[in-house]
Amino acid sequence: MDMLDIEKVISQMTLEEKIHFVVGVGVLGIEDNPKARVSGAAGETFEIPRLGIPRTVYADGPAGLRIDPERESDERKYHATAFPVETMLASTWNKNILKKVGEAMGEEVREYGVDVLLAPAINIHRNPLCGRNFEYYSEDPLLTGELAASFVEGVQSQGVGACLKHFVVNEQETNRMTVDTIVSERALREIYLKPFEIAIKKSKPWTVMSSYNKLNGYYTSQNSWLLTKVLRYEWQFDGFVMTDWFAGDDGAKQMAAGNDLIMPGKSHQVLKHRRNEIDDIRKAIENGELTEEVLNERIRNILRVLVKMPSFKGYNYSNNPDLEKNAKISYEAGCEGVVLLKNNEVLPISKDTTIALFGTGQIETIRGGTGSGETHPMYTINFLDGVVERGLNFDKELAQFYRAKIEELRNGEYRITRGQWNEEIKPKLPENLFIVSQLEDIAKRNDVAIIFITRISGEGYDRRAEKGDYYLTDDEYELIKNVSETFHKYGKKSLVVLNIGSPIEVESWKELTDGILLVWQPGQEAGRIFADVISGKVNPSGKLATTFPKDYKDVPSRSFPGEPKENPTSVTYDEGIYVGYRYYDTFRVEPSFEFGFGLSYTKFEYSNLNLYKDGSSIVVCFDVKNVGNVPGKEITQLYVRAPRVKIDKPYQELKGFFKTDTLAPGEMQKVKITVQISDLASFDGEKWVVEEGIYEFRVGASSRDIRLKGTLNL
Ligand code: BGC
Repeated sequence: MDMLDIEKVISQMTLEEKIHFVVGVGVLGIEDNPKARVSGAAGETFEIPRLGIPRTVYADGPAGLRIDPERESDERKYHATAFPVETMLASTWNKNILKKVGEAMGEEVREYGVDVLLAPAINIHRNPLCGRNFEYYSEDPLLTGELAASFVEGVQSQGVGACLKHFVVNEQETNRMTVDTIVSERALREIYLKPFEIAIKKSKPWTVMSSYNKLNGYYTSQNSWLLTKVLRYEWQFDGFVMTDWFAGDDGAKQMAAGNDLIMPGKSHQVLKHRRNEIDDIRKAIENGELTEEVLNERIRNILRVLVKMPSFKGYNYSNNPDLEKNAKISYEAGCEGVVLLKNNEVLPISKDTTIALFGTGQIETIRGGTGSGETHPMYTINFLDGVVERGLNFDKELAQFYRAKIEELRNGEYRITRGQWNEEIKPKLPENLFIVSQLEDIAKRNDVAIIFITRISGEGYDRRAEKGDYYLTDDEYELIKNVSETFHKYGKKSLVVLNIGSPIEVESWKELTDGILLVWQPGQEAGRIFADVISGKVNPSGKLATTFPKDYKDVPSRSFPGEPKENPTSVTYDEGIYVGYRYYDTFRVEPSFEFGFGLSYTKFEYSNLNLYKDGSSIVVCFDVKNVGNVPGKEITQLYVRAPRVKIDKPYQELKGFFKTDTLAPGEMQKVKITVQISDLASFDGEKWVVEEGIYEFRVGASSRDIRLKGTLNL
């Protein structure tokens, strides 16, 4: 069956069928709910076989398809590729890569029998401590929206759906299911809604997921201003909206507000204090609070998408996606997302350099975060394995020491246990501090020291501005200091590798070392990416999509995770639009590493700015030339400084970006970035306004490294 007369089907549905159809089937396999069609998927929808409506399947997430690799009484494994986390994908600033990753994930989604991928997640990096920042792209709405659009295009080109989540202002995990986010309409429109608006208009995602939190007093899933006025009418969204899992507190209000599907459904089976959404809706219809016509509209929205789904088309999935091909895409994306933050002639290492690897992270490499954004790949190549596989020279005795040490710790005091959801709980390992003579021996027999610092976080909790999380532990700091000093004493260098999902403090130790390489949480190919970047096989070309502030006290979001402090019921975004670099630039707060920053093994020169108005757009042209000695790619950025007439504005805002091709030494590329004049508007509280006056167009290699400038009077 490949056609469905939607109106006819609706007219043939009984009221009971309608009510069941807008509520998912519940957590799969508990109580009277059906068993999962695809084990480990997050949810499924109600089937009505007599009308040709099949069950449809939804699964996470942003770093790769999350399904169970193992199934009951089944020998084979169902692994999916672990891609770099979104923060790293964003650091590529490369729409083609995002599209490719989307295509690869989309293929796995389709071939494993899933209909909709619950990704991309496009909340904003409002505060570096949000536990799920690794699942979000950036502090900037334009970069987020553009990359999300490419990703969605990629996923949906495979005949399955994507889902923009979490709509909206879900920038923390603490009390996420109840917290009331208080935010001005201006900040909402310019910063938090913007990425959704861009991605919806550009890529037509099949679905949007409303968030857990409230927005100015109302749960987002029960907020008709958000779901109906803004999303449906203003933006003309024509897919359907599903709730986040167990979100909100009234199924009937969700229906009335424009939330089409309630997931996973039957919340009362898991959250014992919750009502049954099916009862909510039935009662509301009985007592006239909700009309059947509203239900019909929800069903219409869902069915319009459902008819495109593989399950509806009866697609015969193979359970055999091309994991080998997708591993290469994961590797390629990772290589482009590595950010070289500091390089005092330590990288790339040469063929005969001998490296000494310090830190438990060389073996316990973090491929991604925890929670619904987790992945279950066939393997993860840790940093040490990568070095071995790529044949680099390394200190084998030291590596053996770490292997044994980690085994001892994990078999003893630092044993790995399982949590409530059967997830691994891995206590953070202490770092070994070597005695002086040991370090001296190691420094004598090696050329470079590499020290790994790792962090992990995930769904359900935020990070802390404490040692061991935002700050280094004492032993991590000592390790960097002692190793670097000893190597320096022998005229040798040190490099710190950051295997993290969101910024940590670097200011207090960045001078101790010669280089800092940010490899984020790079997915299953971690070690290969790392080894190829340090050896120079890959020239790093990532740049920061989020600021590294000097200290947590510099972060503008003072209300985080809200008030009262102990158990927040609300969080107030009183920094308004001054998020990330918009704040640091405007209020002259110097960060450790600014938005848009990243080094390369080569250098680029910018020239020939040509700026002109063309109808309703502005065209910005310039040349970029590789003036160094090795091939490389450059991420060019266009910032606009708008006149402050009636509306107060940030110092500058990103309005466009372009990543060059690989340029050989001496090679030049012409870049053309087009900006719609309407995209220069600010929201004055009621409407979008482009104020008259002089606009400065600033082309740079980062937000603080502006190479070319020109002005236009608009
Ligand atoms: C998360 C969503 C996820 C859903 C289904 C929720 O807890 O917030 O991002 O898609 O679970 O797993």
